[in-house]
Amino acid sequence: MASFAIQPVHRFHGQSQPVRRPKEFTCFSYDGTHTLHLDDRSLRWYYPPQEPNADLSRGFETFDKHDDSGDEHLDSLLEAITAHEQTTQAKIDAQVVTWRGMMTKVIMATPYDDRDGYIEENHEYKAASRREQEARQNRPPPRPHPDRPWFPPDVMSFWGYKFETLSTLPRPWGEMTRDQIEGRGAETVSNKAQYCSVVRTGIGSNILCLGGEVDAVWDSKPAVPGKPIRWVELKTSQDIQSPRDLEFFERKLLKFWIQSFLLGVPTIVVGFRSRHGRLVRLEEISTETIPGNVKMRAASSNSPVPWDGDTCINFAAAFMDWLRATMVSPDSDADNDGVWRIRRKPGSPHIEVFRVEETGHGRILPDTFLNWR
Ligand code: A3P
Ligand code: MG
Ligand code: MG
Repeated sequence: MASFAIQPVHRFHGQSQPVRRPKEFTCFSYDGTHTLHLDDRSLRWYYPPQEPNADLSRGFETFDKHDDSGDEHLDSLLEAITAHEQTTQAKIDAQVVTWRGMMTKVIMATPYDDRDGYIEENHEYKAASRREQEARQNRPPPRPHPDRPWFPPDVMSFWGYKFETLSTLPRPWGEMTRDQIEGRGAETVSNKAQYCSVVRTGIGSNILCLGGEVDAVWDSKPAVPGKPIRWVELKTSQDIQSPRDLEFFERKLLKFWIQSFLLGVPTIVVGFRSRHGRLVRLEEISTETIPGNVKMRAASSNSPVPWDGDTCINFAAAFMDWLRATMVSPDSDADNDGVWRIRRKPGSPHIEVFRVEETGHGRILPDTFLNWR
């Protein structure tokens, strides 16, 4: 086993390592039954909600929820990459291929996130945390309080999907009827359909290929491949009414920023909601201004800076350099086969990396990908 020290974080302070602008080179979609298609059919267009004070709980009873208990590994991402390589007759040059979500949680947010432990893509671990969450959900609400309503976590997570349904259209505005636009509040909410962007990006000396869901496009996707796309990330968050709320929101902004930064999403639209799940206001936030603004606000209120974006980038660059050096033998004839696990125990100051299988690819790489490669 090898381990990478997270602390002291100040090792990663200072000017950021170079970062490449993420460029989409392919995409794929899941349709309304979560069936994969190597095209952009599930792309959606941003169009702000029309109904004032919309109730984000409306339709929870008919939520068409994707069952994510099965492990999908990297299958769809690798399928999209294979198709792209076959079309272009060229192999992608990334040293790291992963989901954007993995990169956010496991690597970039780590210097400021010591509460979550994880063994990503380790199914037993995920099942155990799900059982824990279910046990929590079945507990009675803490203590009824008129100003502090309590909603089960699954309702609160529905609010996010409901907001997406209220804020997007399946086609550009000009192709929609007024009834369709105004009828969004009554639509069945589903999280089965997704559009996923696949980008080439770089952090420090690492070239990455990342796949991740994008919620909507602001206007249209440019016809020229590789041009910046005006993506919109949609988020809900509790309305900010106290300094404590602001502090909480600014900590959430770390994940919002990393998530959008990694795919080159320039705008985040936050739907602020009341404690009762009513949409109270929208705010458009420019992704690139987030780290600077968080620091500026801290300075102006004489409070400690909650997080630093450059530190996240430098941490990710250093960790990936180390990971590659650890896993890949410099001897080109050496056997670099096998399956490794990346692990961080809750609160641990280290990330651990160890080989769990000496040979093979576990079930991580599908045959279609291996045969092509
Ligand atoms: P919010 O982010 O508005 O809460 P994303 O913003 O990443 O596209 O995710 C869309 C929605 O999925 C989230 O909306 C939230 O409702 C739900 N969601 C995402 N991750 C979740 C998690 N770990 N637990 C519960 N719900 C989650
Ligand atoms: Mg999303
Ligand atoms: Mg979103």
